[in-house]
Amino acid sequence: MAKDHWSSAAYNSAANFVPQLTSKVVAYLDVQPTDHILDLGCGDGTLTYQLAAAAPQGRVLGLDNSASFISTAQEKHTTPNSTYRHVDCSKLSSCPDAIDGSWDKVFSNAAMHWILRDPSIRHPFFADVHKALKPGGKFVFEQGGAGNVAEAHAAAISALIHAGVPVAEAYEASPWFFPSPDWMRGALEKAGFEVEVCELEYRPTKLTAESGGSGAGLEGWVRLMCAQFLDAVEDGKRDAVAREICTVLEPVVTRGEDGSRWMGYCRLRAVARKKA
Ligand SMILES: C[S@@+](CC[C@H](N)C(=O)[O-])C[C@H]1O[C@@H](n2cnc3c(N)ncnc32)[C@H](O)[C@@H]1O
Repeated sequence: MAKDHWSSAAYNSAANFVPQLTSKVVAYLDVQPTDHILDLGCGDGTLTYQLAAAAPQGRVLGLDNSASFISTAQEKHTTPNSTYRHVDCSKLSSCPDAIDGSWDKVFSNAAMHWILRDPSIRHPFFADVHKALKPGGKFVFEQGGAGNVAEAHAAAISALIHAGVPVAEAYEASPWFFPSPDWMRGALEKAGFEVEVCELEYRPTKLTAESGGSGAGLEGWVRLMCAQFLDAVEDGKRDAVAREICTVLEPVVTRGEDGSRWMGYCRLRAVARKKA
């Protein structure tokens, strides 16, 4: 398992909007009371819990490779019809009951741009999701798409290079894969899916307010979401690199009219069906 950068406390103060800004993808999921749903990269279970509540005669299994998130999910968000498991979703074949063809729906929110980082696992991942579903079942997800948080991506790479990280290593430190809708449609079709929706939406997202609010703000977002970039520099330089990323981002993401800060999220959403 990769190093665990996540904690529910940090997530709630820096990025609580992630499980909240989900009305479109949840509408596409269209949960039915008897649905059996597999949630990939379920985090601390905040959203999974809502899916389980909407499927009282069905069941939900949440998988995530953060031990910290899974333990919060098990403590706070388990219900009679939901369970959570510590699993690396880039290797779904290691979890046979997840890919047993019993699921009505496979869901994922804000996780696949991390899961799909390694190019070699992308096509096997889609093949495993296809295997997981019943005939006629739906794969519904939202993730970062092409251009997502481009300002932060560029600022992080540039700060690493300033800190002496070789350019190729600075590129490689990025933990994300933000594909275009064309790439995604092709990957889904190659795995055997019929693609019903594949769309990219520019959705500027307001960060939590650090002054006068209870959130961790820009710095909290950078420390949480850019943790793998920060890992690429030695311990003694990490704080300075985090500060440089914030310094560069501050004027770009701050709105002059009220001082609020907005990150340029671009969401890639899809609905893909396994043929009946
Ligand atoms: C931004 S959080 C989203 C969590 C949740 N879906 C939500 O909407 O709040 C991204 C999640 O992806 C998970 N993740 C990243 N890589 C993963 C992998 N290879 N396998 C399983 N989960 C992964 C992280 O641990 C984290 O919980």
